[in-house]
Amino acid sequence: MSKVIEVNHPLIQHKITLIRDKHTGSKDFRQLVKEVSMLLGYEITRDLPLEEVEIETPIMKTKSKMLSGKKLGIIPILRAGLGMVDGILELIPAAKVGHIGLYRDPETLKPVEYYCKLPADVGERELIVVDPMLATGGSAAAAINFLKDRGATNIKLVNLIASPEGIAEVQKMHPDVDIYVASIDEKLNDHGYIVPGLGDAGDRLYGTK
Ligand code: PRP
Ligand code: URA
Repeated sequence: MSKVIEVNHPLIQHKITLIRDKHTGSKDFRQLVKEVSMLLGYEITRDLPLEEVEIETPIMKTKSKMLSGKKLGIIPILRAGLGMVDGILELIPAAKVGHIGLYRDPETLKPVEYYCKLPADVGERELIVVDPMLATGGSAAAAINFLKDRGATNIKLVNLIASPEGIAEVQKMHPDVDIYVASIDEKLNDHGYIVPGLGDAGDRLYGTK
């Protein structure tokens, strides 16, 4: 069974409270989502492998550590996942970015695919799937399916807010995928929205409704 890592750093919790607040407008919402994503990025990359290299400081030659191993890929689930990309890219600027377009049918709550563009070598990369909301889990599970169909074997899922139902669904469908989340909320309401949640992440990021 995969791990669920709730990253409850005080800075993250403070910013998540501001993000939840319905009085926070799109400009601040976008900035806060970026900042929380960067802070989550610190935790997501904690287990990246290192190698020792030789360098020369102004004082002497020495051995020091640098990242080695697999190349990284960031995969936002459009559209709300886009809001999380820049924060993580600031930490790992060499990562490639692949996009998966999914929207949730408001009647059936099932994900509908409308776009997919991934790095050619997606199967060789360590992938970080990002989406602010994990509600029923349908969108995340479908996005991870697309990636696995294209050869991906090493995937992490990163959300700002998750429901217990969404976590259970992803763990059932993808027991190999660890989930990093800033907050695990109480439940879903009858419309499939996370309670207390933050409302519709895409609409709040981009000022639509
Ligand atoms: C939201 C959110 C997730 C999905 C979560 O996207 O960003 O992708 O819903 O719900 P689920 O876990 O029940 O599948 P939405 O479908 O509203 O599309 P958008 O990002 O284009 O606004
Ligand atoms: N999508 C959102 O943007 N918010 C929710 O609470 C559920 C799905």
